[in-house]
Amino acid sequence: MTAIVTVVNSLFQKALRCQNTDRPPIWLMRQAGRYLPPYQKLRSERSLLEMFHCKQTIVEVTKQPINILGVDAAIVFSDILMVLDGFGIDWRFEEGLGPVITPSIEKVIDLPEKIQGYPYSPLYEAILQLKSELRVPLLGFAGAPFTIASYLIEGKTSRDHLKTKKWLYSDPLSFHSLLNKITEAIIDFLLIQREAGVDAVQLFDSWAGILSADLYEEFSCSYLKKIIKALNIPVILYSRGSSYFASRLVKIRPNCISVDWSLPLKEVRKQIPAAIAVQGNLDPSLLFSSQRIIEREVLKLLKQMNGDPGFIFNLGHGVLSQTPVENVLYLVDLVKSWRPSLLPC
Ligand code: CP3
Repeated sequence: MTAIVTVVNSLFQKALRCQNTDRPPIWLMRQAGRYLPPYQKLRSERSLLEMFHCKQTIVEVTKQPINILGVDAAIVFSDILMVLDGFGIDWRFEEGLGPVITPSIEKVIDLPEKIQGYPYSPLYEAILQLKSELRVPLLGFAGAPFTIASYLIEGKTSRDHLKTKKWLYSDPLSFHSLLNKITEAIIDFLLIQREAGVDAVQLFDSWAGILSADLYEEFSCSYLKKIIKALNIPVILYSRGSSYFASRLVKIRPNCISVDWSLPLKEVRKQIPAAIAVQGNLDPSLLFSSQRIIEREVLKLLKQMNGDPGFIFNLGHGVLSQTPVENVLYLVDLVKSWRPSLLPC
């Protein structure tokens, strides 16, 4: 039997607890993905859906950024839409279009209160294996209820989210009922990941930014709070729009807030209590620049956040698909070789 390695005092976990470290830990949203040549090779042989449902692929792709980049945390290779499997809803990826979900509105309204069984065994088994092999902490994740609801209603990545907003304005009660069902499914999905051994989880509220602050409080915050309460494991909260919603995110009490790149991180930090860690917030498109410019911006961020024990280096959103790998490596090495003592007096 393989022993599960319990990583508790890694750089990443210390920063998550806002405890001092020699340097900030670094990992990257979407670190496992299309910009990595070994990923492209696997992807050329199989569909994305097959990849997300195969234990061996999940293990292999999750480890790729650890072996290639040397980041301080792994995130399990899965997708926020995997939770739809729990409802028995058909979804797939189409080239050039992204996710396509095919339930009718009736099926969405009639979603079962509780998901049927647990169709996530490849993910569960993969996490078990990863925990016995990795020497860095492993993150699980899920989409936030509002973001999943919007995917379900729009059926794809939408520009305007008009169907979602129309429903939400015209029939808030049934929209809340939908959010309640999705929230329960997300909790189950995350509890399975916790049981398999993930060290922390990240919630992605990728479409939060389409809501006004009032709507965000009503249709997202309360559900996020419910998830965090149910989990009893460290939670990182990523909301697109987090720079502007920071004070509202604080009220949800996650362990860490992942900040987009709209505002300087130091400025957003002022709204977040010292006991909550912050993660971010380099613009992902910066990685298409020259290494001289990358260095300038990375040092700017490191100096800004210098002395903040609860700082986890990351991008403000996921690594973009055409990003040059050598620039990602350069970024990781810069952060890993950073020592506050290198600062000129
Ligand atoms: O961070 C990681 O490396 C872990 C893996 C991960 C994936 N998706 C794998 C994936 C994570 C954390 C996600 C989250 C996710 N998925 C989000 C939230 C994060 C965000 O970007 O805001 C969303 C909105 C999705 C839904 C989704 N999945 C879309 C819109 C797409 C297609 C477009 C795109 O951005 O790639 C996917 C496909 C997907 N999920 C890929 C990967 C590696 C691309 C795979 C490919 O085309 O080969």
